[in-house]
Amino acid sequence: MALYFITGVGGFIGSSLARELLRRGEQVRGVDNFSTGKRENLAQILGQIDLREADLLDLDAMKLACAGVDYVLHQAAIPSVPKSVLDPIGSNRANVDGTVNVLVAARDAKVKRVIYAASSSVYGDTPTLPKHERMTPNPISPYAVAKLASEHYLTSFYRCYGLETVALRYFNIFGPWQDPSSPYSGVLAKFITQMLGGQQPTVFGDGEQSRDFTYIDNAVEANLLACKAPAAQVAGKVFNVATGRRITLNETIKLLQGLTSYSGCAVYGAERGGDIKHSLADISLAEEHLGYKPKVNFEEGLRRTVDWYRSQGNGAGA
Ligand code: UD1
Repeated sequence: MALYFITGVGGFIGSSLARELLRRGEQVRGVDNFSTGKRENLAQILGQIDLREADLLDLDAMKLACAGVDYVLHQAAIPSVPKSVLDPIGSNRANVDGTVNVLVAARDAKVKRVIYAASSSVYGDTPTLPKHERMTPNPISPYAVAKLASEHYLTSFYRCYGLETVALRYFNIFGPWQDPSSPYSGVLAKFITQMLGGQQPTVFGDGEQSRDFTYIDNAVEANLLACKAPAAQVAGKVFNVATGRRITLNETIKLLQGLTSYSGCAVYGAERGGDIKHSLADISLAEEHLGYKPKVNFEEGLRRTVDWYRSQGNGAGA
């Protein structure tokens, strides 16, 4: 049994990692400042984890939280492109300064490895598809810059201090427990709950933008593989975590009309600032070095997600 420390444990991905680790018999410690994370996400497992309410910017709290830890899964962030465009200073504090604090604490506590929630947004609007890790990043939004800076900090901590790090570039993760209620929520959480509730979804732009939407179980699996993969293959490195397929918003809405029984159509509005048009990953590096294979495809993930929101009472009566 190992001790895993999850930052952002109250978030969608953090809480999903915690549930899976507990299911596998591992020990979980977590921090969250509950700015975007939610206590409700942890309600079922509260008695089984060592939960600490703390901010990443509190270095002493991070040092205490890293004591005795084997693996750090650093998921905490202000995870929003548009929010970072409105507040680049806040984005940098949480997403860069916060990461450096976690790295310092992990280094001092001599943890075995730090796995980081990096982002596909670092590729920016480069026309080449699919995106592979050897490409020069071209971040557009402050969020993407912060995520890229953090990746470099990870590699630097490996090179300077020998702290083993792995950065996982998530491509649009979706699934149960994702918060649909903020204007900054991921598009699928919003569309599914809107359509289940009989409300018209709003597409920003023409709906022909595409994404490599990745079901949560695949991201969880990638994290756990990244902890155990041989250091020679993964330490100090960056990997795409995705499915290797892309789908447009317009196609997605058609699928969701079938799954949610929403018979209306979408309304189209202005494009969103900082957005990129297409996103698709080459996942061969993760396949080769992490042994990663996406287990749940997009359609199946979408079906499970719709079922979950329905079971939570979203769209009840619709
Ligand atoms: C981006 C990053 C992703 C990161 C996430 C954090 C890319 C390719 N991906 O996701 O890695 O984790 O930010 O926020 O840069 N949309 C609508 N209607 C809505 C909401 C969104 O049409 O109500 C559109 C957006 O304009 C965008 C697409 O849906 O074109 C996806 O948006 P979103 O789910 O916010 O994720 P990204 O910005 O792609």
